[in-house]
Amino acid sequence: MGHRVALLPGDGIGPEVADAARAVIDATGVAIEWVEGAAGRPAIEREGDPLPESVFAAIRETGTALKGPVTTPIGGGFQSVNVRLRKALDLYASVRPVRTMPGVPTRHERVDLVIVRENTEGLYAGLEHEVVPGVIETLKIFTEKACLRIAEYAFTLARRDGRRKVTAAHKASIMKMTDGLFLDCCRAVAARHPDVGYEEIAVDTLCMELVLDPTRFDVVLLENLYGDIVSDLCAGLVGGLGVVPGANVGAHAAVFEAVHGSAPDIAGKNLANPLALILSGALMLRHLGEHAAATRVVDATTAVLAAGRIRTRDLGGSAGTTDVRDAIVAALRGATA
Ligand code: NAI
Repeated sequence: MGHRVALLPGDGIGPEVADAARAVIDATGVAIEWVEGAAGRPAIEREGDPLPESVFAAIRETGTALKGPVTTPIGGGFQSVNVRLRKALDLYASVRPVRTMPGVPTRHERVDLVIVRENTEGLYAGLEHEVVPGVIETLKIFTEKACLRIAEYAFTLARRDGRRKVTAAHKASIMKMTDGLFLDCCRAVAARHPDVGYEEIAVDTLCMELVLDPTRFDVVLLENLYGDIVSDLCAGLVGGLGVVPGANVGAHAAVFEAVHGSAPDIAGKNLANPLALILSGALMLRHLGEHAAATRVVDATTAVLAAGRIRTRDLGGSAGTTDVRDAIVAALRGATA
């Protein structure tokens, strides 16, 4: 039976990388009916809203979306499309596998870890106000429910993927109540999963340790703000934003998207690296139960990178987005021929 998936190309480089990801996924032969939706600039132009109700409806109905990046205008106006999507669909877990890829120059070899980030609370609740002129207050909200649920997600993922340990990052020495609650919840969930190792680390120490030796980490569990920052640090460990895939997962829907943004500086020039969204597509295939196809996408991507000829500019090459797309599609077709 086929799958229905919402496809949101987004704006900036979004349409270019989404086109590549769709072509690669279609080349696996998995039957997918794409339900296209407009988010970001095209949606503002058409409907006056970067995230119209039709997009929510498409994701709610299909349960799965592949999403290109969307520009967030700075200053007033529209709220971030990504924050709105995560809140409205309660996509509480952000998952980012971070792996070294052959042919992508990095400082460390054999990096293979997963960042699990709480996506709905903390300082990103967006609760700010002016107390008196010149004094602004931001609220950092943690709930036991959200902390328990993200910890459970991390341990379940570790168990499912045969990973050895979960490392919870915190700053409970300073934020004793919020980060303290986060740790209490992590410990309670760790006690329910004695087969998975558990350790705690201050988030500043984590950053240093990741730069020194990322291979000692396996699943790293963080609240929202720390997770956002550490995710980009980890992207830098394996070749940058162009190669790291991601997923935002909730109980009823999952949205698969690259870590990078809409890269307006290179949009429309066939320069964008599509690998991050293609690998997000592999995560999506796994989520849909298409494990063999997911493995084939990763293998074809790895083979193209290892051959070393076809790489975009961010990886030191001169290939275009469409060259990478065509090479991976050809590798997939060759593997099935
Ligand atoms: P960005 O990730 O778009 O770009 C940062 C730098 O990385 C730029 O020099 C860009 O050219 C390069 N880059 C990013 N992705 C690339 C790719 N696939 N291939 C080659 N080079 C790539 O971050 P920036 O500039 O901070 O944000 C631009 C816009 O994207 C903002 O409006 C931001 O809010 C939005 N954004 C959207 C996200 C999403 O929709 N998930 C995530 C992050 C940012």
